[in-house]
Amino acid sequence: MTRSADTLTLTRPDDWHLHVRDGAALEAVVPHSARQFARALIMPNLRPPVTSVGQAIDYCKRIRDAVPEGLDFEPVMSLYLTDTLPPEEIEAAATAGVRAVKLYPAGATTNSDAGVTDLRKTYKTLEAMQAQGLLLLMHGEVTDPSVDLFDREAVFIERVMIPLRRDFPELKVVFEHLTTREGVDYVREADRFTAATITAHHLLYNRNAIFTGGIRPHYYCLPVLKRETHRLALVEAATSGSDRFFLGTDSAPHPAHLKEHALGCAGCYTALTALELYAEAFDRAGALDKLEGFASHHGADFYGLPRNTGTVTLRRETWTVPETVPYGEATLKPLGGGEPLSWRLA
Ligand code: DOR
Ligand code: ZN
Repeated sequence: MTRSADTLTLTRPDDWHLHVRDGAALEAVVPHSARQFARALIMPNLRPPVTSVGQAIDYCKRIRDAVPEGLDFEPVMSLYLTDTLPPEEIEAAATAGVRAVKLYPAGATTNSDAGVTDLRKTYKTLEAMQAQGLLLLMHGEVTDPSVDLFDREAVFIERVMIPLRRDFPELKVVFEHLTTREGVDYVREADRFTAATITAHHLLYNRNAIFTGGIRPHYYCLPVLKRETHRLALVEAATSGSDRFFLGTDSAPHPAHLKEHALGCAGCYTALTALELYAEAFDRAGALDKLEGFASHHGADFYGLPRNTGTVTLRRETWTVPETVPYGEATLKPLGGGEPLSWRLA
C-alpha cells in the first residue's frame, strides 16, 4: 500500500458478498462491481435459486458476458443450500471451482423461501463440504418470530453457530454481514476456521438512518442496521488489522419503486461506490492504513485464493454520488445518492 496526503494506492480489492441478480438487472450492475473489484463472491439467491453446479456455471458465464471490454473481473460462484442439496453436488462443485455454499435460514430474507428449515437435515452435505474445503457462508439470523428482529443475530450464535462449530470444527465458515457486538466478539474468539464479512453500510450507519425525518427505505437491509454501540464494534473489528474480518458489500439491488413501497424490499445498493464508502469509514476511524488488509488480503487468504496483482488508487476529492442509475426498465438508487463522498476511485 502507498499513501500520500491525498491518494491511497492498494492491491486490487475483492468483494466477498455480492448480489448481481440476472438478466437486464445483471447487465446494469456488473459493470459497477467490475470497475471496483477484481473478484466477487456471487450470491445464489436467484429465483429459482442456484442449487446445481450446472446452474452456477451458466450463471457465471452470464456474469462474465456483462463485464465491459477492458476490465477484468472474476465471479467466484456459490451454491444455495437447501434441505436436500445432495453431497454428490459438493464434489462436483469442488471440481468445477465453485468455492462456497450459502445458508439462508428459510424465510430470513430476500429469496430465502427455499432455504434451510433445520440445519441437521444438511449434515451429510456439510460433511462433504468440510472434506472438500468448500466454505459455508451463513446468513446469521434466526427466523423465530418470537425473537425481536434486532436480536436475531445474537440468538443465531447461541442456537445455530455454536452447535455447528462443535459438530464441524474444520468447516470454514463465514459469518456474513456481521451487524452486532455479539457477532464481533464471537468471531474474534473463534478459531481460524471462522471469519466474517462486514458491509460498508453497517460501518457507516446505525439504525437511526432508517428513521431520520421519516421512513427511509433505502437504508433498510437484512440484517437490519443496529444501534450505535454495535456500529462502533464493527468499525473496531474492521480496522483492527485482524485477518478474520474482510470486505463483503452485500450490495443488493432492487428497483427503486419496490423499495419505496408498502412492503419495501430489503437491500442497500452500494456496488457503485463500494470502495469509496469503505474508505470513508476507515478514514473517519483514522485507520486508512488498515484498509488494504481488509479489502484486498484477508478475504483471499481465508478463501485460499491467491491475492490479486495490480493496484487501484483512491484520491481525496469531494464529489456527489448520483441519485439514480438505470436498472433495466426501472431505476436503482445507490445508497447515499445525492450526498458527498470524500474519496474517489481514480
Ligand atoms: O438486505 C438484504 N438483501 N439482505 C439479504 O440477506 C439479501 C439481500 C437481497 O438479496 O436483496
Ligand atoms: Zn446478501
